[in-house]
Amino acid sequence: MKALILSGGHGTRLRPLTYSQQKQLIPVANKPVLFYAIEDVIEAGVHNIGIIVGPNKEQVINAVKSVDWDANIEFIYQGEPLGLAHAIKVARDYLGDDDFVMYLGDNILREGIVKHLEHFKKGDFDASILLCEVPNPQQFGVAELSEDGKTIKRLVEKPKIPPSNLALVGIYFFKPIVHEAVENIKPSWRNELEITDAIQWLIDHGYKVGWTKVENWWKDTGKPEDILDANRLILDDIKREIKVKTKAKILGRVIVEEGTEIDENTVIKGPAIIGKNCKLKNAYIGPYTSIGDNCVIENTEIEDSIIMDGTVVNCGGRIVESLIGKEVKIMERNQHPIGRKLVLGDRSQVIL
Ligand code: G1P
Repeated sequence: MKALILSGGHGTRLRPLTYSQQKQLIPVANKPVLFYAIEDVIEAGVHNIGIIVGPNKEQVINAVKSVDWDANIEFIYQGEPLGLAHAIKVARDYLGDDDFVMYLGDNILREGIVKHLEHFKKGDFDASILLCEVPNPQQFGVAELSEDGKTIKRLVEKPKIPPSNLALVGIYFFKPIVHEAVENIKPSWRNELEITDAIQWLIDHGYKVGWTKVENWWKDTGKPEDILDANRLILDDIKREIKVKTKAKILGRVIVEEGTEIDENTVIKGPAIIGKNCKLKNAYIGPYTSIGDNCVIENTEIEDSIIMDGTVVNCGGRIVESLIGKEVKIMERNQHPIGRKLVLGDRSQVIL
């Protein structure tokens, strides 16, 4: 068994962050989204992992190599992101004749994949998918089940009128027959080789396609609000761990990493995580906040937000539900003319 983890694509719905960062490297609770996928795969006993990389390949390779994984990891370059089934084509040589799990690197699944992989193996399926009930199935691949709910009748990609509320999670198990399916499908209206069409091909040609239901939460972190939501869900599970000495008031489940200085006028209310070598002065860090490494937060309240490495915030007032990139500066203007001074990259969003 091998794993194919996808970490390419342009991440257009996450601009401007994705102008400089590969979307799967955006941190959730101070860990790149991609790492949750790698951990899940290793936990399921799969130690041969191919990672599909695209536009920012060096970034992804460096980030993955910064950790000592219990796995053999190879990187496979996908020139143009032409769809999920195209990624399988690109990885054809790497995958050989092995079964594999394909895991989209921007998906986070609370329960991991152990029991889903077991179901795939036990049922001797040619492919097995994960389904999750969602309120907005139009935004995903959607499954229509048979009357008795045992088999999958049809899969449709982002349907205007969804046949059910069962979305396809971005985690799929395949036997090598999928390579034949991938060779036989045509690009969709969005000019992508859709994995949904490849699985439909397997169904139409009489192959055995199974499914399992996601019991806990699942997040596709394609949009800013999804990233913030994933951050809340992950922080809900953390344990208190304060690795520094401080007189600050720290309430509840809070992680503070080494080298961080927190003055006694600061209050932190969990769940929250503060990275390494930060400086917090006269600040309030509220629930569901992740602050990366080397940040400075002064005279400001921050709640329900993600602040990435090296950012400085000293603006007074309160910042909420925000996703702020690396090395950003948010300062108070203390000279005339009084007004808001902004230097914003393309497609930034500011709600004042
Ligand atoms: C892809 C798949 C879709 C699936 C989703 C899960 O969508 O095409 O079927 O439901 O991942 O994350 P995309 O992220 O390409 O819009």
